[in-house]
Amino acid sequence: MKKGSSNNQNGSESSDIGNNNRDNNENIPQNNESENNSVRITPWEVVGHVDYDRLIKEFGTQPIDSEIIEKFQKITGEVHPMLKLHYFFSHRDLDFILRKVESGEKIYLYTGRGPSGMVHMGHLMPWMFTKYLQDKFGSKLLFQLTDDEKFLYSQERTREEIRHYTYENILDIISVGFDPNNTKIIVDTTHIKHLYPIALEIAKRITFSTAKAVFGFSSSTNIGMIGFPPVQAAPCFLPSLIEGKPTPVLIPAAIDQDPYWRMTRDVAEKMGFYKPAQIHSKFLPSLDSQGGKMSSSKPETAIFTTDEPEVIEKKVSSAFTGGQATVALQRQYGGNALGCPVFWYLRYFFDDEKESDERFVKCISGNLLCGECKSDLARESKSFISTLKKRRESAKDSIEKYMYENEPYEI
Ligand code: TYM
Repeated sequence: MKKGSSNNQNGSESSDIGNNNRDNNENIPQNNESENNSVRITPWEVVGHVDYDRLIKEFGTQPIDSEIIEKFQKITGEVHPMLKLHYFFSHRDLDFILRKVESGEKIYLYTGRGPSGMVHMGHLMPWMFTKYLQDKFGSKLLFQLTDDEKFLYSQERTREEIRHYTYENILDIISVGFDPNNTKIIVDTTHIKHLYPIALEIAKRITFSTAKAVFGFSSSTNIGMIGFPPVQAAPCFLPSLIEGKPTPVLIPAAIDQDPYWRMTRDVAEKMGFYKPAQIHSKFLPSLDSQGGKMSSSKPETAIFTTDEPEVIEKKVSSAFTGGQATVALQRQYGGNALGCPVFWYLRYFFDDEKESDERFVKCISGNLLCGECKSDLARESKSFISTLKKRRESAKDSIEKYMYENEPYEI
């Protein structure tokens, strides 16, 4: 595997993936389990402390640098806090997308959700940024719900359970505020006829050996999972079919979804499409640690859009912090803000940059106690979720407007 190859569509940097003449998939960067056994990042699992700079090298992506941020500023007239704070830290072909936007060419946005449970605040981060891009660029958005993936992934989950979460997650997606005239929700098992022909073309071009290397599949993986990735890849090319010409697509998502895009990019040009571009975010941390991501599989450490105020209060009060063992030690030595999920949660979601910088200085100098940060986080989260809950309620009446074929979706 060649480390650090950027495979962009400009042809400006050396890349073995971007070479259209190559007809095997052996050079796709693989899942990074072997790089460091304590860290494992796949679309289904994030374990260990994530070193984002290292991921850029291992996955062969590009950092979001000042040049890209300036281009954004030129187009949008501002720098979104998630860019400024480097929450979105990495990309592929974002410069290509920004050039297309500048020249007035239509681009599509594509993002998604695997409906395995209720939505937590980590999931909302890339969606809020996607809405921002949709507003700024006036772009159409495809939003995929991979109910098939989540059914296949766990032997315990039933189709009924997944359908329930699909419905609940649709309410969350709508409550983010996407433009109903420019947004189409695709539920895989409902809309598969729109994806299947493209998925077949993709599947035919990917060997099992590549799928194993990219996703970490083994002999004990069920064959449904092994066959699934082309279904998540298909919406990358659907816009080209809708528009009747190759159409650029930008995917905002956390970095865990990257294996899908590496695979997709490898077949794109062979199929006559642009490689899908990505903008990768970090993970909102789980409330119980410094390193892992907020995950529905550990509900006590994540804040869900349907949590009651007292549940939020309890989760935040039990959160891990970067504080010292006693108040006296905290006053003497200060806290470890950078290793504190409460700090990051406040920084990304609720504090503005100035407030957050001040919080940081006060924390590390011993002038702020963890109780104060926890109380700020609990208050802000409760108010945020309470607003979202009202929007979820009214979303029930607009499901049809958002569905791919403008049809109802019921449990
Ligand atoms: P899923 O449901 O695991 O995650 C949905 C989106 O949330 C991001 N994410 C997070 N972001 C920040 N902090 C976290 N703690 C966190 N946990 C998850 C994910 O990166 C994702 O953007 N297979 C996909 C569904 C999918 C999809 C897509 C996602 C289908 N097509 C296109 C992104 C783009 C999944 O199960 O996502």
